[in-house]
Amino acid sequence: MRVLITGGAGFIGRALSKALVAAGHSVSVLDNLLTGDASSLPPEVEFYQGDVRDVPLLWTLLQGVDCVYHLAARVSVPESVLYPREYNEVNVGGTVALMEAMRTVGVRRVVLSSSSTIYGDQPSQPLHEGMWPNPPAPYAVSKVAAEYYLFTLGSLYGITTVALRIFNAYGPGQPIPPSHPPVIPQFVQQALRGGSLVVFGDGTQTRDFVYLDDVVRALVLAGERDQVDHRIINIGSGRETSLNHLVELIEEATGRKANVLYNRGRSGGVHRMVADISLARDLLGWTPRAGLSDGLKRLLREDPRFSR
Ligand SMILES: NC(=O)c1ccc[n+]([C@@H]2O[C@H](COP(=O)([O-])OP(=O)(O)OC[C@H]3O[C@@H](n4cnc5c(N)ncnc54)[C@H](O)[C@@H]3O)[C@@H](O)[C@H]2O)c1
Repeated sequence: MRVLITGGAGFIGRALSKALVAAGHSVSVLDNLLTGDASSLPPEVEFYQGDVRDVPLLWTLLQGVDCVYHLAARVSVPESVLYPREYNEVNVGGTVALMEAMRTVGVRRVVLSSSSTIYGDQPSQPLHEGMWPNPPAPYAVSKVAAEYYLFTLGSLYGITTVALRIFNAYGPGQPIPPSHPPVIPQFVQQALRGGSLVVFGDGTQTRDFVYLDDVVRALVLAGERDQVDHRIINIGSGRETSLNHLVELIEEATGRKANVLYNRGRSGGVHRMVADISLARDLLGWTPRAGLSDGLKRLLREDPRFSR
């Protein structure tokens, strides 16, 4: 296959590029390097720096492409509250631009990396794909809209479409931006440095943490399998972990007792999140391989920032 990965220089995109190159596919990446880093892409990848909304550029890059993995997005929930217009323009506008360009060039398949944040607070767990979205922030709204555009334009243009709702991915190379970093790399870094781990709320809020390699395997399968057209598929571990328990597992993996501070005045966000992953099993033949305890140990081994 010849594939194009938008946002392919990002955390998930780099790992996906490596997996697709290793499987013998021909891979191009389009990324504006807002947060991405193209320096560690495999040498076989053709890298293009540019914006996913640049339709003429897309016409060129889409020639001969069999499948697009659409990962390019603004990805910070708190930032989306400050800049909702920007999130709408990139995450929704970028998806529409891509679908339009795919129609013009005649590309037949696209996999969208959507997000579990779409669910928000729900009356029951585990979260399954049929639940009505309850997006708590503009980032989540932008992913709901991107899904709708994907499926509607896909039907109108005859393009096979599938959206993976990825839960909390973690693994080597995940950025740790100074503001609002993802919880796992931030806590691991703090634990190793002997700093404080700040938990918002009381730490009973739960999340579903899924290892990077498992996410990548699901994306690859979504680009290959039949009978996924028009489907939304959860990609999580299927395990519910409270932040308090995450801290214990990080202490175990790092061998360090953490200094935990609770900021009870600040909301811990959505109270519970755990994925129902039966559809991923049935449609993709996918089940997660890495449990959180082992995944954290692998992260410490494989991410040079955490080597001791
Ligand atoms: N990491 C997670 O836990 C997670 C969970 C759910 C969904 N997702 C989705 O998976 C995708 C990849 O996420 P990630 O964690 O690798 O984030 P990331 O920020 O590392 O990757 C996003 C990439 O998109 C690029 N980009 C941003 N705006 C662009 C634009 N206008 N044009 C071209 N490129 C642009 C960035 O430079 C970056 O390389 C995103 O769509 C994200 O919403 C991630």
